[in-house]
Parts: sequence; C-alpha cells; structure tokens
Amino acid sequence: MVFCVEVLGWGITAVLGAKLLHNVWHFVYAVYLANALGHNVIANMKHYGPWAVVTGATDGIGKAYARQLAALGLNIVLISRSPSKLQQVSDEIKRESKTTQIKTVAVDFTNGDSIYSTLRKELFQISREIGILVNNVGMKLPTCNVADVPSGEQFADIINCNIMSMARLTNLLLPAMRKQKRGLIINIGSVAGTGFAPMRATYGASKAFVDKFSCDLAAECRSDGIVVQSILPGYVATKLPGLSGKSSFDVPTAEAYVLASINSIGVETRTAAHWFHKILLYWTEVLYFFAPNIVQRLTIKFIGRKGTMTVTDNSNSS
Ligand SMILES: NC(=O)c1ccc[n+]([C@@H]2O[C@H](COP(=O)([O-])OP(=O)(O)OC[C@H]3O[C@@H](n4cnc5c(N)ncnc54)[C@H](OP(=O)(O)O)[C@@H]3O)[C@@H](O)[C@H]2O)c1
Repeated sequence: MVFCVEVLGWGITAVLGAKLLHNVWHFVYAVYLANALGHNVIANMKHYGPWAVVTGATDGIGKAYARQLAALGLNIVLISRSPSKLQQVSDEIKRESKTTQIKTVAVDFTNGDSIYSTLRKELFQISREIGILVNNVGMKLPTCNVADVPSGEQFADIINCNIMSMARLTNLLLPAMRKQKRGLIINIGSVAGTGFAPMRATYGASKAFVDKFSCDLAAECRSDGIVVQSILPGYVATKLPGLSGKSSFDVPTAEAYVLASINSIGVETRTAAHWFHKILLYWTEVLYFFAPNIVQRLTIKFIGRKGTMTVTDNSNSS
C-alpha cells in the first residue's frame, strides 16, 4: 500500500514537473527565441494580402497596430469614430511609411446595425485584397457594481462595440479570405475575460466572448489557411484604463505591446503576447482553476490599488 502511494506520488510529481518545464520552455521560446529564429511571419506579412483593416485605429493599441503593419509594408484601412483623428493618424502614418496607401472610414460602433452597410460599401472594392483584420475597438463601462451603471443603454453600447463589431466585420471579410485561402484575424480580448472581473462584469463578459469566439473561429478556419489570434492583454498604458503615459515594466506602452503581439503571429494563436502579461494570464488561469475564491479577493484588491481603474468617466472610451 505504502509502495503504491509512493509510486503514485512520484508519478504525479513527474507529470507536474514535465508540464512546468514545458510551460517554461514555451514561455522562453515564444517571448525570446521564435522571433530570433525567424519562426514567426513578421518578415512576410504581405503574404496574407496587401491590405489590413484596423478598428479603433486612432489611439492606443489600434493606432500602434496600424503604424506597425504599415511599417511592415501593408496598406491600411483605419476605422474609428472621429474624422479629424482619422485624418491626423493617416497623415502621421503616411509621413512614416511613404508608400503606404491609407483609407479611412468614420463609424461609431455603438450605433449598431446601421453602420455595417456603410462598412460593406467602403470596403467592397478592396475586399479581395484584405488579408488582415484587427478587431481592436473596445470600450469599458464605469468601474462599478452592475446596479450602479448609470444608463441601461450602456449595456447595448458595450455589446455593439466590443462584440458585434468583431462578429460583423469577421462575417463581412471572411468569405473573401476563404476564397483566397489565406488571412489573419486578430481579435483583442483582455485578461479580464479569463478570470474574475468584479466591478467590470459587463466588460469582462464581453472580452470572454471575444476569446471564446476567436478560439472556435480559429478551429473553423484552420483548414482554409486562415489564422485567428486571440490576444489577451493586461494593462497597457493607454486612455482606456486611464493609464496614458504611465508605462512601467508591467504596463507596456501600446507600441511595445503591439510589437510583442506582432512577434507572436505564426507562433501562438491564444496569447497575452507581452512577457509580463503572459505570466499574469498563466497564473490567473491556474489560480482561477485551483483557488477561485482567492483570485476573486485578489482581483478586488488589485482594482482598489490601481486607483485609476475606479474612474467613472466613460467619455474617452465609449
Ligand atoms: N489598454 C488596456 O489596458 C487594455 C487591456 C486589455 C484589453 N484592452 C483592449 O484593447 C483594445 C484597445 O484598447 P486601447 O486601450 O487601445 O483603447 P483606447 O486607447 O481608448 O483607444 C480606443 C480606440 O477605439 C476607438 N473607439 C472607441 N470607441 C469607439 C466607437 N464606439 N466607435 C468607433 N471607434 C471607437 C477610439 O476612437 P477615439 O480616438 O475617437 O476615442 C480609439 O481609436 C480594446 O478592445 C480594449 O478592450 C486594452
């Protein structure tokens, strides 16, 4: 009996040890080696097609994707709500990447169904040439209990902006990608969609949708040569979490975050991309599985510590 327990103990230790070693190896490979060994597709992004579409492209993570994809030789469709900011970002990219063609489309994703006929018309002519879709646009509600959300309409806004935009644009552009047998769809979720997101229940749930949708879509599209990535950032120094200009080792700038994210293309399909966010995501999921109550308490403490997350002003992110 003692012998059996001992064998079982060693067996479990060996399995857990092997799993841990594999995780450490995968972390080192994905963060440091894959790029150095040329295992990602960064050198050949145009292979997906000459145009990339980026939503929420006038600030933060979306703007960084637009700039970096342009620098890699792609023409860019910038989609956001403010025409003047679109013009400004378009000029900025043209100055940096002289041969890039840019198209801008101004729509407000909280407007629901009506905007998709505009998008269909605007994208029709280049639809066969669109190889990359970055579903980045996102907003959050005030950090508060669901009972204290100031207006019921805000639930529709967040669903339209964070979920519907991704599903509808994917539905619009995927048929041409399938015909071409190539394409890349990058969906920006959040670590908040994987563990607990107390006081941010609607935002967290919308991001859980993004992650689940992306993973299932990835499985659906693999045989068509289309890659789907679920990107799960922690805090990035942008306007959305109120951290503009406040980068640190655990809160990268949007540019640094997107560089890590682009480096993961062809290497990982579900990833937090940045080294610190990968550790955060890993432990969030492990603890969520083994000790959900502890994670719940830690998350509430963390939200309290990051005082900026308690802003109730939603004007910059709706
Ligand atoms: N930053 C983080 O810490 C963090 C963490 C996890 C996940 N994320 C996710 O990353 C994505 C980008 O976030 P971010 O931090 O880069 O945000 P951001 O800096 O606030 O930029 C958001 C972009 O989306 C546009 N936008 C917002 N609402 C829109 C609407 N209703 N219709 C059209 N465009 C709209 C904004 O346009 P305007 O310029 O006109 O405002 C801006 O270009 C989001 O999906 C977010 O949930 C961010």
